[in-house]
Amino acid sequence: MTTQETLDQIASEVAVCTNCALHKGRIMSVPGEGPANAEIMLIGEGPGATEDAQGRPFIGAAGKFLVELLGQAGLKRTDVWICNVVKCRPPLNRDPLPEELAACNLYLERQIAAINPKIIITLGRFSMGKFMPGAKITQVHGQMRKIEGRFVIAMFHPAAALHQAALKPAILADFARLPQLLEVARKAPETVAGREPANQAAQAAIPTFEQAKPAQAPVGESEKTEEPKQMKLF
Ligand code: URA
Ligand code: SF4
Repeated sequence: MTTQETLDQIASEVAVCTNCALHKGRIMSVPGEGPANAEIMLIGEGPGATEDAQGRPFIGAAGKFLVELLGQAGLKRTDVWICNVVKCRPPLNRDPLPEELAACNLYLERQIAAINPKIIITLGRFSMGKFMPGAKITQVHGQMRKIEGRFVIAMFHPAAALHQAALKPAILADFARLPQLLEVARKAPETVAGREPANQAAQAAIPTFEQAKPAQAPVGESEKTEEPKQMKLF
């Protein structure tokens, strides 16, 4: 099977999937979209109302901002692969539940394996949590890490920056550094085929790529008072 055929196959399975309760409320599932040979894969949280109605990821307000962010890196929407950790809309956009994330995870794993992107960008805390459990977005955003043979960058969720103007400069700066990080990822030897062991010792030995100063997240009072809203969106 070609990569595209594999992705089409996954999409056709997702379209009729009943593996978790989210299938009950969906109009359309949202498998993800983009070129099969994308070097960058963006992983968000889950479809919202617009995405649910049209079956495409990030086409509402957050999606519009995402296009602007990609522009910071000289990229178009059609250059990257975009999907979510859950493929069906949680009711009223509530957080996905652990059992829903678990039920949908294999689709995402298969998409990652098929596309084999140079860089994975996580948008939001559920997507970040898949690769960096326990990480704090204010500490790790914009930094490229090698996790189980893949380069991963956690970014603020575009919707978070839409709701909190103070986050906007940080997310814009993080996306602006993407071309430079992509160069690093392109030059790095392929390690996914022979996956490093995912144990603690191996993780500790894996270099991170933080040579360029990451953008500073806003800190202090405003962060404290905004915490609940931030937590929801990360
Ligand atoms: N927010 C997400 O996390 N995903 C989408 O597809 C749209 C908005
Ligand atoms: Fe299936 Fe994922 Fe949709 Fe749940 S969210 S029904 S696991 S495709």
